[in-house]
Order: sequence, then C-alpha cells, then structure tokens
Amino acid sequence: MAADLGDLVAAHPLRERLRAAHMRALYGAGRQSAALDGYEEAGAEKPPDDDHDALVQRLKSELRAVDAVIFFTPEYNRSIPGVLKNAIDHGSRPYGESVWEGKPAGVIGVSIGSIGTAVAQQHLRNGLAYLDTTISGSSTMARARDTAVLEYPLSINAR
Ligand SMILES: Cc1cc2nc3c(=O)[nH]c(=O)nc-3n(C[C@H](O)[C@H](O)[C@H](O)COP(=O)(O)O)c2cc1C
Repeated sequence: MAADLGDLVAAHPLRERLRAAHMRALYGAGRQSAALDGYEEAGAEKPPDDDHDALVQRLKSELRAVDAVIFFTPEYNRSIPGVLKNAIDHGSRPYGESVWEGKPAGVIGVSIGSIGTAVAQQHLRNGLAYLDTTISGSSTMARARDTAVLEYPLSINAR
C-alpha cells in the first residue's frame, strides 16, 4: 500500500492528501524515518509558478508605469469577473508593495443586462477604495444590444 501511494505521490507531487496518506501508511508500517522524509520533501516541493510569477511582475510594473487605470468591466452574477479580482489582488501584494495606493481610477461597465453592471461596479469600488486608489464617486453604465454595439455612448468619469 505504501508503495502504491508512493507511486501516486511521485505522479502528483503537489497533492497534499496523497502525501498525507503516504506518510500515514509509512508510519503505520513502522517506517517512521521514511514518513519524516516525505514530510520534508513536501515542504521543498514548489509549484511550477515561474511563468505565473513573471506575469504578476509584468502586471505590477505596467500598472506602476501608468498615471491612472480605467476599469472596464462586465458583470457576472452581480459581481466582477474572477480574473479581474485576481489581478487586483495580485497588484495589492506583497503587503506594503501595493501598486494601487494613490492611483487614480475610474470604473465603467457594459452589459446586456438591465442592471447595467451597477452591482459589479459597486463591488469594484469597495475594493478600490479599500486599496486607497483615488476613485471617482460616479458610475458610468452602458447597455449593449450585443457585445459589439452599445445602446448608449460611454463617457468617462475618472478624475
Ligand atoms: C456567468 C455570467 C453571469 C452574468 N451575470 C450578469 C449580471 O449579473 N448582470 C449583468 O448585467 N450582466 C450579466 N452577465 C452579462 C455580462 O455582463 C456581459 O454583458 C456578457 O456576458 C457579455 O460579456 P462577455 O463576452 O465578457 O461574457 C453575465 C454573463 C455571464 C456569462
């Protein structure tokens, strides 16, 4: 059993439950030292995030270089898309190295829905206010008949 689990751990080194089951099996078989080795290996295992790190660094340096940011968002189930939240969160970390502090920001939304992204925009504003961007209080919303044609012209309210 420990051998089978060892094969699974080798095939999926980042699966913590497999590692835990493997360590328990080794421990149960009286192989405490091997179980401890597994624990140390797990700590040394690093996710393959080199590309991810590079992308986050690029995002942050591009955000630092601009004078202001205009967020143009759809609304998904009454909030902003997860990828946008993820980008905002990455820009805010490590703690003390946020790119958002003092950055002028504006928010625009476009949607085919009648609510016109109002809720998503408010969610976005909450986060941006917390992150100390300088954000306009007014909203701009647009309804689109489809993703290409806007029913109303857009105006930008960033200051
Ligand atoms: C999963 C999902 C949820 C959505 N929820 C809302 C919503 O709550 N309010 C809204 O106005 N539009 C909503 N929409 C419409 C989008 O805001 C957007 O106008 C439309 O999906 C076209 O943009 P897209 O090509 O980026 O998906 C939703 C769309 C999707 C796919």
